[in-house]
Amino acid sequence: METRKMKTGSIFILTYLCFLSPVNQAPLPNATIYDLAFKNMDYAMNLYRTISGYHDKNIFFSPLSISTTFAALLMASGGVTYQEILQGLNLEQLEQADQPELIPKLFQLLNENITHSMSLNTSLNLDQSMALFMSPHFTVERVFEDQIKKYFDAGIKRVNFSNTEESIRVINEYIQQKTKDKVTDMISSLDSVTQLMLINTIFFQGAWLKPFDSDFTYTAPFYIDNYRVVQVSMMLMDEKFDMMEDTRLGAKVLKLPYREGVSMLILLPNKGMDYTVIDEEITAERFLSWIKKLKKTKLEVNMPKFKMEQSYSLHNLLPQMGMNSIFSNSANLTKMSPDGGLKVSEVLHKAVIDVDETGTTASAATTVGITPYALPRTFTVNRPFFFFIYQEDTNCLLFMGRVIDPTKN
Ligand SMILES: *[C@@H]1O[C@H](CO)[C@@H](O)[C@H](O)[C@H]1NC(C)=O
Ligand SMILES: *[C@@H]1O[C@H](CO)[C@@H](O)[C@H](O)[C@H]1NC(C)=O
Ligand SMILES: *[C@@H]1O[C@H](CO)[C@@H](O)[C@H](O)[C@H]1NC(C)=O
Ligand SMILES: *[C@@H]1O[C@H](CO)[C@@H](O)[C@H](O)[C@H]1NC(C)=O
Ligand SMILES: *[C@@H]1O[C@H](CO)[C@@H](O)[C@H](O)[C@H]1NC(C)=O
Repeated sequence: METRKMKTGSIFILTYLCFLSPVNQAPLPNATIYDLAFKNMDYAMNLYRTISGYHDKNIFFSPLSISTTFAALLMASGGVTYQEILQGLNLEQLEQADQPELIPKLFQLLNENITHSMSLNTSLNLDQSMALFMSPHFTVERVFEDQIKKYFDAGIKRVNFSNTEESIRVINEYIQQKTKDKVTDMISSLDSVTQLMLINTIFFQGAWLKPFDSDFTYTAPFYIDNYRVVQVSMMLMDEKFDMMEDTRLGAKVLKLPYREGVSMLILLPNKGMDYTVIDEEITAERFLSWIKKLKKTKLEVNMPKFKMEQSYSLHNLLPQMGMNSIFSNSANLTKMSPDGGLKVSEVLHKAVIDVDETGTTASAATTVGITPYALPRTFTVNRPFFFFIYQEDTNCLLFMGRVIDPTKN
């Protein structure tokens, strides 16, 4: 047996929020974590469309991290601010008038379900954490403090924001620790009138169920568009994979499983197909229909290695999705603090992903061979593609991205 170093798919995400001083749908009875995961997925795709409306570059973010952060804020807010977050997160249907804590409870259950299935085995690592940093004299409502502890396991930490340098050091240290040293200097500046900062981090590291053999990795062209071609490190594997074709959409779907019930789904638009057409078509329902129709197929998979780091200023994007008031002077965060005059000034989201063979120390023994006869069908990811990392039990979308140019970080 050869030994392989597990290293594939190291992902780091951080959502950070910084504070300075109507569609009506019938509610879903007895909503479950499935419903939450489904709603989150649609939300993710809406957010994706909003981001892609700005540029045609690589995209990568964690919808779970973002929606978890705002679910915590939901408990802080009232009035219009509350309604906007609820709608913005696509969670209106989960709202039950007689169960005000249902939504945070569902987030808690979903998170527990995901982390539970992973803690069974150490080859996969998913770690989500939340912390609320606040000034020494800031009074936070007891109920809110208890709720975020209970549902989000969030720690409350006091920092003296008027001592800017010290605060930056403390917060960056926290982030560095929570992201296993992947991010060392998240914050470089801080407004000295900051009163509160809510930080959510998510860290994921997974190993492919079937690692690629790095001996087979080769250099190959990747066609960004009709005019631009880059050279990439293409990984190769000849195996049985779950795959399907969405002929109506004009794309193929391939599932690359990690260990322990998490998978990456690759959506590859057909040759010559404009990927922006796909932007308009992806929904949670469609996603589930792909998963249902996957069939085991013998395939030669050619997949580029890629690595990227993306940052988003969500306070500039979310107002387009209907979340306005939380960033304005009319923000209603009265459930967080009776002090008043609070609003959210910044929401930064940072995500890092690194996809490779999972195997760097491949020994001489070759487990995956390419037979010259009976050539298998090929799935060659040599043009822009989409990817989704999700937990299979709940169909919870952990990460979502689009790769236009694998050589660009
Ligand atoms: C919802 O839950 C309540 C009790 O928790 C139960 O009485 C009711 O039958 C459930 N409704 C549905 C549609 O499952
Ligand atoms: C904030 O929301 C609460 C309800 O949650 C409401 O009672 C209060 O009047 C609102 N405050 C403002 C200033 O809108
Ligand atoms: C997670 O959710 C799935 C689907 O509802 C369920 O089958 C599984 O038992 C749950 N696992 C845990 C640990 O709660
Ligand atoms: C993790 O799972 C893999 C197979 O899925 C197994 O070979 C390995 O022994 C497991 N590790 C632990 C610590 O349970
Ligand atoms: C916070 O820091 C400022 C500037 O360093 C200092 O003047 C002030 O006394 C500190 N406040 C507390 C409560 O430590």
